[in-house]
Amino acid sequence: MSDFIIDVAPVQGHTDAAWRHFHKSIYGGCQSYYTPFIRLERGDFRKHDLKDYTSELNGNHEVAAQVIFRDMAELRPLIEGLVERGVKRIDLNTGCPFPLQTAKGRGAGFIANREEYFRIPSLLKEHGDVEFSLKMRLGYSDPDEWRGVMPAIARMPLKHVTLHPRVARQQYGGDLYLDRFTDFLEACPHPVVFNGDIRTPEDIERAKTSFPGIAGVMTARGVLGRPSLIAEFEEGKEWSREERLEKMLHFHRELLCHYESTLCGDSQILSKIKPFWEYAEEEIGRKAWKAVKKASNIAKYHSAVAMI
Ligand SMILES: Cc1cc2nc3c(=O)[nH]c(=O)nc-3n(C[C@H](O)[C@H](O)[C@H](O)COP(=O)(O)O)c2cc1C
Repeated sequence: MSDFIIDVAPVQGHTDAAWRHFHKSIYGGCQSYYTPFIRLERGDFRKHDLKDYTSELNGNHEVAAQVIFRDMAELRPLIEGLVERGVKRIDLNTGCPFPLQTAKGRGAGFIANREEYFRIPSLLKEHGDVEFSLKMRLGYSDPDEWRGVMPAIARMPLKHVTLHPRVARQQYGGDLYLDRFTDFLEACPHPVVFNGDIRTPEDIERAKTSFPGIAGVMTARGVLGRPSLIAEFEEGKEWSREERLEKMLHFHRELLCHYESTLCGDSQILSKIKPFWEYAEEEIGRKAWKAVKKASNIAKYHSAVAMI
């Protein structure tokens, strides 16, 4: 395998330990996965965050624990608590655009807190045995905001920085600032991973050729809608739609069996399994996609999946 990184991004409500486990066992390919962000609630870890990180299902894949924080008073206990639990890889989320987080100065809101931003390097250096990475946007509303924190980023001991070249105000749509990505790549002394709108094997190839200096790519919605994306790129050939769907249905069966054996009641199971298809409209067709979305009980859900 080449050194080119191909990571599966963290996505709240989608890439839980079970999804990551079966994705890895069925498709292989991906170098690293990330937990959806872990945060403190009233000064402590939330139980379900820890459950995801400590799950036995993590045994078959490399996973980094991702944390979201508003200051060092939150980041320090998050790092220390994870280190106590044996964590060796931690990703810092400074890119989340969800207003609930940014309004509290977390995620993409953190960039405004320069004083705290410049405290990160020394805190990370206290944990020399942990591998850190940073995930970020260009800024909150200004695509040049990153320039002001680059001196702090440069001093952080990082494995890599993953940059999604949008500003938080754009949420997940609108054009990527590809020119700013180039500027960032030149200015950043760490390996840089490209994230944003990678949906097909050609998109990975295009990122490689457009930005020869990148260390790799990270995909979120793309791999959720087309879970074979990385395997196809690694094999150097696109799979037919039939092959992709057959494998995706297999992946879905494994995940559904797992949820059926660990969750209680149809509504819990449905709320966990329905998001599996959220980004797959193009792959499975609008009719089936809408039927899955509308399914109000397990029987209707099975009929909807049978349409695929
Ligand atoms: C519903 C949703 C939840 C997300 N949750 C997280 C998260 O927990 N941590 C994080 O760093 N990024 C999160 N992201 C952002 C993705 O990891 C990724 O950076 C973004 O979707 C852009 O990549 P894409 O164009 O490949 O989807 C989330 C995105 C979506 C749409």
